[in-house]
Amino acid sequence: MKLHKNVLHKVGSAILLLFLISCATLEKKIRIIEDFNENWNFKLGDYPNAIHSDLNTSDWRILQLPHDWSIEAAFNKENPTKQAQAFLPAGMGWYRKTFTLPENWATKTVSIEFDGVFKNSEVFINGHSLGIRPNGYISFGYELSQYLNFGKENVIAVKVDNDAQPNSRWYTGSGIYRNVRLVASEKLHVAKWGTFVTTPEVSAAKASVHFEVTIENKNEVPKEFKLKTSILDANNQEVANVVTTEKIGANTNSTKIHNLVVNQPKLWDTENPNLYKIVTTIYENSKTVDNYETPLGIRSFNFDAEKGFSLNGVPTKILGVCLHHDNGALGAVANKAAIKRKLTILKEMGTNAIRMAHNPASLEMMQLCDEMGFIVQDEFTDVWKKKKVTNDYHKDWDAWHKQDLEDFIKRDRNYPSVMMWSIGNEIREQFDSTGIAITRELAQIVKSLDTTRPVTSALTENVIAKNFIYQSGALDLLGFNYKHEDYKDFPTRFKGQKILASESVSALETRGHYDFPSDGIKAWPPKYGAGFDGNADWTVSAYDQVQSYWGTTHEANWKTIKKQDFMAGTFIWTGFDYLGEPDPYPYPARSSYFGIVDLAGLPKDVYYMYQSEWTTKPVLHIFPHWNWTSGQEVDVWAYYNNADQVELFLNGKSLGVKSKQNDDLHISWRVKFEPGIIKAISRKKGVVVLEKVIHTAGAASKIALIADKTTIKNDTYDLVYVTVSITDADGNLVPNANDLIQFEVTGGGKLVGVDNGYQAGLDSFKANSCKVYNGKCIAIIQSNGKKEKIQLKASTGNGINAATIEVGVQ
Ligand code: GAL
Repeated sequence: MKLHKNVLHKVGSAILLLFLISCATLEKKIRIIEDFNENWNFKLGDYPNAIHSDLNTSDWRILQLPHDWSIEAAFNKENPTKQAQAFLPAGMGWYRKTFTLPENWATKTVSIEFDGVFKNSEVFINGHSLGIRPNGYISFGYELSQYLNFGKENVIAVKVDNDAQPNSRWYTGSGIYRNVRLVASEKLHVAKWGTFVTTPEVSAAKASVHFEVTIENKNEVPKEFKLKTSILDANNQEVANVVTTEKIGANTNSTKIHNLVVNQPKLWDTENPNLYKIVTTIYENSKTVDNYETPLGIRSFNFDAEKGFSLNGVPTKILGVCLHHDNGALGAVANKAAIKRKLTILKEMGTNAIRMAHNPASLEMMQLCDEMGFIVQDEFTDVWKKKKVTNDYHKDWDAWHKQDLEDFIKRDRNYPSVMMWSIGNEIREQFDSTGIAITRELAQIVKSLDTTRPVTSALTENVIAKNFIYQSGALDLLGFNYKHEDYKDFPTRFKGQKILASESVSALETRGHYDFPSDGIKAWPPKYGAGFDGNADWTVSAYDQVQSYWGTTHEANWKTIKKQDFMAGTFIWTGFDYLGEPDPYPYPARSSYFGIVDLAGLPKDVYYMYQSEWTTKPVLHIFPHWNWTSGQEVDVWAYYNNADQVELFLNGKSLGVKSKQNDDLHISWRVKFEPGIIKAISRKKGVVVLEKVIHTAGAASKIALIADKTTIKNDTYDLVYVTVSITDADGNLVPNANDLIQFEVTGGGKLVGVDNGYQAGLDSFKANSCKVYNGKCIAIIQSNGKKEKIQLKASTGNGINAATIEVGVQ
C-alpha cells in the first residue's frame, strides 16, 4: 500500500515524539510543590475575624510550621487534658498567612496540603470556608484556585479547635503540627493520591509492576494526551517505561493502567531497603503538563499460619516496636531529623518493624520507614463508635470514618514498608455483636483500595466466643495484644489463622534508676501478685522486673515469641517513652515508663537485651553504675551474645564465670559493693570477645558533650541532638548527678528543646536550661537558616567546668 507523504510525515513526527518522550526521564519539573510552612501568624484563642484580610495581626506571633502549642506551655495538674495527655493544655488557636501568587498561575490548579492538624480544623481562603476536618491525624487538602487573587494578596486562615477534652489516651499536641505545602499544576494532572503501584510478581530475575494512575481534567474541553510511566532506580536511571495515548472528557477523572517489567530488580528488604521511583508524565501535544512521583519498593511478603512471616521468601521474625507520634521535647511537631534519630536508635537495637500506634503517622515517618528498612503496621484508629474517653474519635465516627479510612489508605498504599493495615487498636466493639458489621465494613473499604496487604486489628480478647471482631471473619491476620502465656494454644484455637503479637510487654523502667534486689517480678498495680508499690521519687527500677498487670517483662515475652514459629513477630509497647500515660504514677508523673529508650532518646538497659538477641553484632552490656555504699549488695546484670561465657571482676578479683543457661537472656552476680572498678569480659572458646569496665565516679568535675552529627543543613529544619553528661575528672559518668545546666547557642542554630528523660519532671522542654537526670540530659538545636557554624556552650555555675561543642553547617 502506498502512503501519502503527509501521512508519512505525521507518522514520522509521532515516532520522533514517542522517541523523545521515552528518552526524557529527567526533565524540568512542571508541577510546583512549595514548602508553605514559613511566616504564619498564630494566636491562642478563638478569632473568627481572622478570616478577613483587614485584620490587624500585630499582636500575633510569627512562626514557622510545623507547630505544637501544647508543648510550649507549662504542666498543670488542672489542665483538662489530665494525665493521659501529660497535663499540658489544649484549647483553641488560629493560624493565618498572607501570600501573593504570580499572575501567570491563574491558569493553574492550586491546592493546599496539610499533613495533619490537631484537631477539628477549618480552613478559610479569602473569607471562604474550604472545609472542616475533625480527625487530627489525617492528611488532607483543598483546592484554592477559584478563590485566589493572582498577583494580589491572599489570606489563608486556619482555625484549630482542640478544646473539648479529654479526647485521647496519650499526648496529641495541638495545632498545625505537620508540614503544609502549596501545589500548583496545570489543569490536566494526576489527581491527589492518584497513583497506586503494586508488584504482583517478584523474583530475582524480574518483577512485574502494575501501575494505576487517575488523571484529572479540570479543563472545560476533552483532552488527548500522552501518558508516560517511567521507573527510575536509586541513581535516577530509567529501568522501564511505557507510553500510551489517552483521552479524557471535560471536567472529569479517569484511571489508566500501565504494566511494566523490571529485570533483575534490587529487592527492598530491611537490611537493604532498595528503592525505585515511578515518574508519571503527562504530555499535551509535545508539551509536558504534569509530572508526579510515586515511591516504589520491589518486595514480596507472606504471612503463614504455621511458619509466620517471610520477606522475599526469607523467613523473617517481625522484631517490632510500637511508637506514638510525639517527638519528646519537640512535642507533636513532625520533624524528619527527629524521626530519623529515633529510627536510627531503634535500628541499632535490631528493630525491623514499627507499629504506628494508634493513628496515621507523619509523611516523614512513612518515608523514613521506606528509606531505612522498617516493616510497617499502619494503624487507623484507637476508637470506633464506642468511646474510650469523653471527646475522642467516637464523636466523629459516623460522619467521617469512611472518608478518613479511605484517605489513610490512599495516602499510604504506595509505601513498600507498609505490610499490614490495622483497622483498630483494642476496639471496644470486639466485646459486642456490633463489632461484626463494623469490622466487615472497614475491611471492605480497605479491600476496595488495596488487596495486597492483610487487614488486621490489635485485639485483647482471645476467647473466640467473646470476640466479635474475630467472629466477623473479615480479618486476614489476627493481632493479639498481651497475654503471651496463651499463645501456645493459638494454633489449635485459631486453626489455620495467621497470627501476630500486635502489642507486647508494657514493662516499666526509668533510665539509670536501680532498686535491689533485682530478682522476682513485680506487678503494677500491686493488687496483682507480688506488687510494685512505687517509689517516692516516681521512678521504676531499670532492671526488667516491673510489669503492668496486663503485660509482662521484656524477657518473658521474647522468650515465648522466639520459640513460636507460627507467631509472625511482636511489637513491643513501646520503643520510646512518650508523653502522657505515665502509669503507674499520678501527677507529677507525665510521660510513660514503657519505653525501651527514654523520652530524651537515651537507651535504658533493656535496650541491650534486645540488641544482644535481635542483632548479630557483638554485645556486652553490664549494669548498674558503680557508685554505691560500701558493703551494700548490688546485683550486676550482663546482656551479651556471640560468647559462651562472661567473667566478672571487682578491683581485679574474679567474681566467677557465668553463662546463660537454657533460655536465659541475661546473667547476674550479687556483689558486695566496694568502690573501684567492675569489669566484665566475654569470651568465646577462650578468646576474648568484648570487655566492659565501669569505674566508681569521683566528684562531678566536667561536662561532656556529644553531638549526633558533625554538620547540620542550614534549612531551618535540620536538628542536632547533643547528649550532655556530667563526669568526674577522669571522664567517668557521675551516675547520680542532677546539676542544672545552662545552655547558650550561637551561630547558625537555636535551642528548640531540652530533656533528661525523667518521667516526673515538670520543667519546660523549651527552657534554656535542663537538670541532668542520673547524670545525663540532651539539648536539641535547630538550624536557624544562617550558613554559620553552631556553638553550644553548657555550664553549671557551680564549679563544674563548662564545655563548648561546635557543629559545622552544610
Ligand atoms: C495497651 C494499649 C496501649 C497502651 C498500653 C499501655 O493496652 O493498646 O495504647 O495504653 O496498653 O500499657
